[in-house]
Amino acid sequence: MVFYVLVFLFLMPFSWQTTQRPIVALAPMAGVTDASYRQLIKKLAPETVVYTEFLSTDAIHYGAKKTMGMLHFDAEIEHPFVVQVFGKEPEHFLSAAKVIEEMGADGIDINMGCPAAKVVSSCHGSALIKNADLAKRLVEATKKAVSIPVSVKTRLGWDCMDSLIPFCQGLIDAGADALAIHGRTYQGKFGGDANWDPIYELKQHVSVPVIGNGDINSAQDAVEKIGNLDGVMIGRGTFGNPWLMKDVVDVLVYGKEPGVPTVHSISFEEKIPFILYHCELAVRVKGEKRGMLEMRRHLASYVRGIDGASHKRAQLVRVERVEDVREILCA
Ligand SMILES: Cc1cc2nc3c(=O)[nH]c(=O)nc-3n(C[C@H](O)[C@H](O)[C@H](O)COP(=O)(O)O)c2cc1C
Repeated sequence: MVFYVLVFLFLMPFSWQTTQRPIVALAPMAGVTDASYRQLIKKLAPETVVYTEFLSTDAIHYGAKKTMGMLHFDAEIEHPFVVQVFGKEPEHFLSAAKVIEEMGADGIDINMGCPAAKVVSSCHGSALIKNADLAKRLVEATKKAVSIPVSVKTRLGWDCMDSLIPFCQGLIDAGADALAIHGRTYQGKFGGDANWDPIYELKQHVSVPVIGNGDINSAQDAVEKIGNLDGVMIGRGTFGNPWLMKDVVDVLVYGKEPGVPTVHSISFEEKIPFILYHCELAVRVKGEKRGMLEMRRHLASYVRGIDGASHKRAQLVRVERVEDVREILCA
């Protein structure tokens, strides 16, 4: 059964309407969901839809070297592969979308939810919630450029949720093929608990797939939160616990009992080969120096909660080679 699902996923052109249900997606996260993190998640849970970090349409339009490098992905492993973009110039969305489609992505997602001050003050990310006309024009420009699906990831609203349904309806009228909604407003940033109720209500009013996002930290959370939605998107819950994606896929897609989460059911010793594999991926994608530098944060998350965590963390934040990690973890 799993085999046939995977063959289907790899052979069919990706569509939000027909992809497996429930959809399980890795949230786009700047500084986190680079190629190595996406491939790590796909190794554990091949059914996951993976997103890039948000990438500037201006940078892609002008061919900026660093951003173009961030578009690289492993076509054999990373499917469905969605490139998330941000910006405010419709012309740049048009040209960036063409580049993204040509390099083989399965979908393009437009960021209309980032609350970072630098992003919002440039009229990007969450600021688009307050500029529904421009938001629609960005979707229209992207749709015009490509035949792959175009989705939007946004929040419940700016400072309240009243605009959620009309805002999303406008995006759908402009051509959006799917929506991912983080259950907080711009003002809510990352505080308090995510509120999924407005997302369930939105789903009752729209025809496109709707994915809910916010505060899923276990398979049980996913079961409790999915409600009438087409899928769930998971971000921070995977930090130090990429096994969460497998737990969620097992439970939501294959109907297994939530039971004991994998992360608690396998010992730290059993996790070590996988943590080393993550390091190897990071080195393969970014080279030893940068790859290991970026791994330090992940390594600190992996040892959270184990005996002697603080001692190990103090060592792991200085590692320079995969071998250093092996020595510290196996000591
Ligand atoms: C480090 C970090 C980086 C993020 N970067 C992005 C991003 O590039 N694009 C985006 O749409 N959301 C971004 N987000 C928001 C997440 O995609 C997600 O909406 C949020 O973390 C809530 O989901 P969670 O509770 O499962 O983490 C980021 C979140 C974090 C913690």
